[in-house]
Amino acid sequence: MRILFVGDVVGRSGRNAIAEYLPDAKRDWKLDLVVVNGENAAGGFGITEAIYHEFIDAGADVVTLGNHAWRQREALVFIERVPALIRPVNFPKNNPGKGAAMIEAANGGRVLVINAQGRVFMEPLNDPFAMVERELEACKLGEGADAIIVDFHAEATSEKQAMGHFCDGRASLVVGTHTHIPTSDYRILGGGTAYMTDAGMTGDYNSVIGMDKEEPLTRFTTGLTTGRYEPANGVATLSGVAIETDDATGLATRIAPVRLGGTLAPAKPDFWM
Ligand code: FE2
Repeated sequence: MRILFVGDVVGRSGRNAIAEYLPDAKRDWKLDLVVVNGENAAGGFGITEAIYHEFIDAGADVVTLGNHAWRQREALVFIERVPALIRPVNFPKNNPGKGAAMIEAANGGRVLVINAQGRVFMEPLNDPFAMVERELEACKLGEGADAIIVDFHAEATSEKQAMGHFCDGRASLVVGTHTHIPTSDYRILGGGTAYMTDAGMTGDYNSVIGMDKEEPLTRFTTGLTTGRYEPANGVATLSGVAIETDDATGLATRIAPVRLGGTLAPAKPDFWM
């Protein structure tokens, strides 16, 4: 199965990159499934229902979230009625929505997508390892699902690597989000799980992790808050990771970084071209 994971879409410029590149990528690379992290899509914080549908129309099959899941209050409501929007599985019990979704891929395969959030330098949520364990136990790779993708929205590289090893052999892909900078450690782990510490953001890299540089620089140099964080609005790079899985086992056979447009060096999965 051919799967593309697209990192955190930041603001309008990130959404423009989705509209510009995702439909062509889905067609040209014959993608079976696309996952997009949308937690920074609306003005940098959260997601609206209109933006969710924009992503689905552009080719996303599942949209994942993170610590800004509820920043647009409407998400608390529409997450209950749309089929393919998930928030971290280890959010408090009474939160709306769910942390995993089973989606039918273009080739007819069943793909389980799990979203979890880290706890190092982040809010004290439920144990993400225990919650992911529960999902993986309930739906085994190669039995209950033909592919399993884990979006681990976390700050610390250590926690993300740990999640990769924790899921190794039991998921097709474990990919980190949230830090907005693509890492070069994409590889297939010993047990057959594709792994990348951070998918990078889909946004304007002439920024401070997607935000216009001015306010972050002021805060770093003076300690003063003088305004709001606003998404940078230059040309965005679509950043993410592409994998191919074995249809019999669900494990990964190939992995490649994806960077399209904007200021980062371009990267495409050459095994699909
Ligand atoms: Fe985040």
